[in-house]
Amino acid sequence: MTEPLLCVRDLRVGFVTETGRVQAADGVSFDVAPGEVLAIVGESGSGKSVTAQTIIGLTRSPNSRIAGSVRLRGAELIDAGDDELRKVRGEQIGMVFQDPMTSFNPVYRVGRQIVEAVRAHRRDIGNSEAREIAVEMLDSVGIPDPAQRIDDYPHEFSGGMRQRAMIAMALALEPELLIADEPTTALDVTVQAQILALLERLNRERGLATILITHDLGVVAEVADRVLVMYAGRVVEQGTLDEIFYDPQHPYTWGLLGSLTRIDRDRPERLPQISGAPPSLQSLPQGCPFRPRCPHEFDRCPELPGLDARLAEAPAHLDRCWLEPEEKRELRQVEGQIGLEAPK
Ligand SMILES: Nc1ncnc2c1ncn2[C@@H]1O[C@H](COP(=O)(O)OP(=O)(O)OP(=O)(O)O)[C@@H](O)[C@H]1O
Ligand code: SF4
Ligand SMILES: [Mg+2]
Repeated sequence: MTEPLLCVRDLRVGFVTETGRVQAADGVSFDVAPGEVLAIVGESGSGKSVTAQTIIGLTRSPNSRIAGSVRLRGAELIDAGDDELRKVRGEQIGMVFQDPMTSFNPVYRVGRQIVEAVRAHRRDIGNSEAREIAVEMLDSVGIPDPAQRIDDYPHEFSGGMRQRAMIAMALALEPELLIADEPTTALDVTVQAQILALLERLNRERGLATILITHDLGVVAEVADRVLVMYAGRVVEQGTLDEIFYDPQHPYTWGLLGSLTRIDRDRPERLPQISGAPPSLQSLPQGCPFRPRCPHEFDRCPELPGLDARLAEAPAHLDRCWLEPEEKRELRQVEGQIGLEAPK
């Protein structure tokens, strides 16, 4: 087995707010291997961005409380100094955010920003060499006429081109890990497909490890090798792409799959969106946090299920639900398709 590049163990991130403590990530653990695409999915507020940002130290603040371990090639990042982390960001871990307009400074040309990002980390490189790297990177992410377009301002690029340029900037220092947080959410479907194809190609050609954060299981199906499903700051299920799509064990995952738009068949009437709203992180229900929205709740659920392997045949497929696997396989079938039944 390939040695994991990134090891996250029991990561806890809390924020002290005026109205109480918000536990945004609560005991999150996962590995990412070189060349692997790990998707993190979950509704808004489930802790996806906080988890990703904590890996590179972006949640450090006087009111945050961070515990656990994040090791990159064995080196602990959780308590690394700010200078060391700045070096890791960019050189070893690149990051792409949802809205590239906020990541590029609108008053500087795109190329200059990539050149500066390169030179901030590589003092040995002169301006003209950094510019060559920038042109090469823009070319590799599919920007046409990169030698000319490098002198455009961010607003002269379309949304899809800005996102490509953002990826080029993240890759200019040849990181080993790319964290992409909703990289395609702001884009239309065609451009989204192009960006996903680009990420997949880079991943394959460069052996780049990728953490892809999205609330869209359609995106996950396109590119992920493994999937982490988050709910209320916790991982509720994790497994390979096939395990999550064809043998999902957690009712929340059934709900996500049921609300996935399928072009190959009509939507059954009994498969609504998951009912209710995500819980407040300040007043989680006792036990399984999905209880208020789960039509299958029973007397064991007021006790918090661990994230455990419950299938003898798939020891790396983990979930947090007390139902027996046979019950799950029966309950998740709603009108011939996997889904979460509407509450009675
Ligand atoms: N600095 C902060 N102070 C207080 N609470 C915070 C802070 N940052 C994040 N949170 C809270 O942590 C929770 C998780 O936020 P996070 O941004 O990780 O969600 P997410 O899963 O990325 O959602 P989305 O899909 O909307 O991006 C949210 O309830 C959010 O309000
Ligand atoms: S543990 Fe209980 S409430 Fe939670 S998802 Fe499973 S059946 Fe539903
Ligand atoms: Mg987010």
